[in-house]
Amino acid sequence: MDQLQALVDEALKAIETASTVPEIEQLRVTYLGKKSTFSELMKTLGRMDAAERPAAGARINTAREQVQQVLEERRQHLEAWAREQRLVAERLDVTLPGRHEASGTRHPVSRVLDRLSHFFTSAGFQVVDGPEVEDDFHNFEALNIPAHHPARAMHDTFYFNAHTLLRTHTSPVQIRTMETGQPPFRVICPGRVYRCDSDMTHSPMFHQVEGLLVDEGVSFADLKGMMAELLRAFFEMDVAVRFRPSYFPFTEPSAEIDVQCVHCQGQGCRVCKQTGWLEIGGCGMVHPRVLNNCGVDAERYTGFAFGMGVERLAMLRYGVQDLRLFFENDVRFLRQFA
Ligand code: DAH
Repeated sequence: MDQLQALVDEALKAIETASTVPEIEQLRVTYLGKKSTFSELMKTLGRMDAAERPAAGARINTAREQVQQVLEERRQHLEAWAREQRLVAERLDVTLPGRHEASGTRHPVSRVLDRLSHFFTSAGFQVVDGPEVEDDFHNFEALNIPAHHPARAMHDTFYFNAHTLLRTHTSPVQIRTMETGQPPFRVICPGRVYRCDSDMTHSPMFHQVEGLLVDEGVSFADLKGMMAELLRAFFEMDVAVRFRPSYFPFTEPSAEIDVQCVHCQGQGCRVCKQTGWLEIGGCGMVHPRVLNNCGVDAERYTGFAFGMGVERLAMLRYGVQDLRLFFENDVRFLRQFA
């Protein structure tokens, strides 16, 4: 019994210095559990005088209850503190505005393609597709560009082997369309083309839009009218258009299409190299040999075709001075087309 007060003091001191809930639990086991010192003390009551037993038992119980009470208080305090700590650590400000997902923009090349597709589908054209990995026959031979023809040298072709290449223009899609269908044809083919060429104004990959219209009684006047209408719609201006005689093996006659410079209205500036005109593509009446190569009766049908550079149109339409900007995909550049 002499140890009782010392025991209480020791327990209270330990409880006071406990700083976590598990520590408190450990102290409860040590001081109040079945094998604790208090339990041992209780066991000694049996050996005591019957007269002293009740008073001694009461003292042990009181001491035990005191320790228990302090321990519970401390436990509650530590639990409250732990909860507080967790709340601080997991604090969430539900009033903060949500994190905003920046939405992308349509690439200027895609925008031009959309505008062209819209114009031509309104005029009854179908949008068709062809392979970028082409064969020599569709890219050259069927378009009246036989082996050793000087026109091949202008194409700077990427070859896989003697017969397989990356298409250098979208014109092979004309062949694929006519080979597999029956006239009349009204198609455009937007797509990627490849040439082994790279500088300020040339990129090894760029886009073209090919057009083909084949029917009975189609004339060069139809071609002129369609191109003039297209360019007015595309630039949303009443621009002048001119046709310069040119040469392509797959058209006869052939022409290059020029549009009045949209920057200086034909006055002459840096963009048009002081000529007042901008070249935007090639065109012509489909060569009878090309029609025949595809099984189309050249006596009955005539047609026109054209091919335009999409990046070129995008540069003119949006006032972009450097072709490379289209391929670098710097978001500061792209955002301007939102
Ligand atoms: N394929 C030609 C090129 O890439 C462009 C072209 C010219 C396409 C005249 C045509 C055309 O359909 O009739 O340079």
